[in-house]
Amino acid sequence: MTEADLLLTGIAELATPLGITARIGADLGRIAVLENAAVACRDGVIVWVGPESELAQAVRPLAGATRADAAGGTVLPGFVDAHTHLPFAGWRESEFDERLRGTTYTEIAARGGGILSTVARTRAMERPALTALVRARLDELLALGTTTVEAKSGYGLARHHEMKQLEALRDASAGHAVAVVPTFLGAHTVPLEYRGNREAYVRLLIEEMLPAVAAARLAEFADAFVDANAFSVDEARRVLSAARAHGLGVRLHADQLADDGGAALAASLGAASADHLEFTTERGMEALAAAGTCGVILPAATFFLMMDEAPPARKLVEAGVPVVVATDFNPGSCPIDSMACAVGFACLSARLSVDEAITAATLNAAHSLRRADRVGSIEVGKRADLVVHAVPNRYHLVYRFGAPRIRLVICAGKVEYHNPGRPWA
Ligand code: NIG
Ligand code: FE
Repeated sequence: MTEADLLLTGIAELATPLGITARIGADLGRIAVLENAAVACRDGVIVWVGPESELAQAVRPLAGATRADAAGGTVLPGFVDAHTHLPFAGWRESEFDERLRGTTYTEIAARGGGILSTVARTRAMERPALTALVRARLDELLALGTTTVEAKSGYGLARHHEMKQLEALRDASAGHAVAVVPTFLGAHTVPLEYRGNREAYVRLLIEEMLPAVAAARLAEFADAFVDANAFSVDEARRVLSAARAHGLGVRLHADQLADDGGAALAASLGAASADHLEFTTERGMEALAAAGTCGVILPAATFFLMMDEAPPARKLVEAGVPVVVATDFNPGSCPIDSMACAVGFACLSARLSVDEAITAATLNAAHSLRRADRVGSIEVGKRADLVVHAVPNRYHLVYRFGAPRIRLVICAGKVEYHNPGRPWA
C-alpha cells in the first residue's frame, strides 16, 4: 500500500496535461480530467492520483499526515511562468499614462525612457533591498498559483548590477516555496554609457559578464532582445553563442514589435524558447517547429501594450511549435504577474482553448525551462505542486476570469498558501 504524508481530497475536477515533454499540435489540448478525485503525496512528490472513492484502499496516511480539502474546487498543476523580468526596482505608471494619451512604447524607449528608466532605478537599489523586493514578489506569485518562475536580469546592464540582480534572485529564492529559474539578460538594451560604442558593450557581455555569471553559476539561461532599439540579429547571435559555450541554455525576445528575424535566429541556435512572436512569419514558425524551440506567447503584454496584433497562437499550434503561455511580468510592457490573467488573454485574444492554455501554462512551460521531468503536471513521480481554484471546473478560470479565486497552493507537498475566503458562488 502506498504511504502518504499529504492527502488532498474534495476535488470536484482535477485537470492536467500528462507527460514529461512538451505537447504539440492536436495534443496540446488533450488533457486528463478526473472528477471527484484525490491526490496523495510523500516527501514532496506525488505518489497517487485517482478517484477519491478508491483512496482508502490504495493509500495509507502516515502518522501526522496533512489532510487538505479542495472543498469542491478544481485542481490544476501549479502554474509555471516561463518569462518574467522579476528583479526590477520601481514602477513606470507615468509612462503608462503617457501611452494612454498616444505616445508609443517605442517612442518612450527611443528618448531614453522605458527599459533605461528601470535600469537607473535598479542600479540605485542595494542588493539587500532588491532581495527583499524579490521575496515579496515571490510571495505574491505563490498566492497567484505560480509555483515555478523564470526570472531575468537585464536592468543592470553592467557587470556588478547584473550580478546583483541574479544574486538577489538566488538569495530571495533560497528557502522560498516558489522555484526560481534565473536567466541572464545582459543583452536587454545598450546602456546609455555605451550608446556611442555598442560594439564595446557586446564585447563586455561576451568577454566579461557572461564568464562571470557562468562561473558563479548565477544563471541557467541567457536571453537577448532583438529589436530596433536593442540588439541586431548578428549581435544577439554572438552573445547567445558565447552563452551556449558557457553551458547556458538560450531564450530570445523575438519579433515583438516587428519582423526582425528573431524566430529564425532562435531556431538556428537551438534555443529552448523564442518569446513574444507577434510579428513572426510562417517561415519563422516552421523553423521553430523543426528545431523543437518553444514559442512563448505573452498575451497579457500584447494586451497591455494595446497592440493590434494578438500573438499568433493558432498558427504556432498548426505549425507544430510547442506553445507556452507566460506573463512577461515587468514594469513597462506587462505589470501583470498573474498567470490566470495570462491564460485568460491566451484564450480570449490569442484564441487557445482552455485545455490548450492549461497545457501551455504548465507542462509546456516546464519543458521550455528543462523541468518537464519534474514539474508541470499532476502525475506520480512529479513534484507535488498543486493549486486548488475555487471554481467547479476548469472552464470557469477563463469564463469568469479577472478575479483571483485561488483557495490553496501546495508546493513540493506542503500547503504554502491558504485563502479560506468565502465559498464560491
Ligand atoms: O519583454 N521587450 C523587452 N523587454 C520587456 C520589456 C521591458 C521593459 O519595458 O522594461 C518585454 O516586453
Ligand atoms: Fe520580456
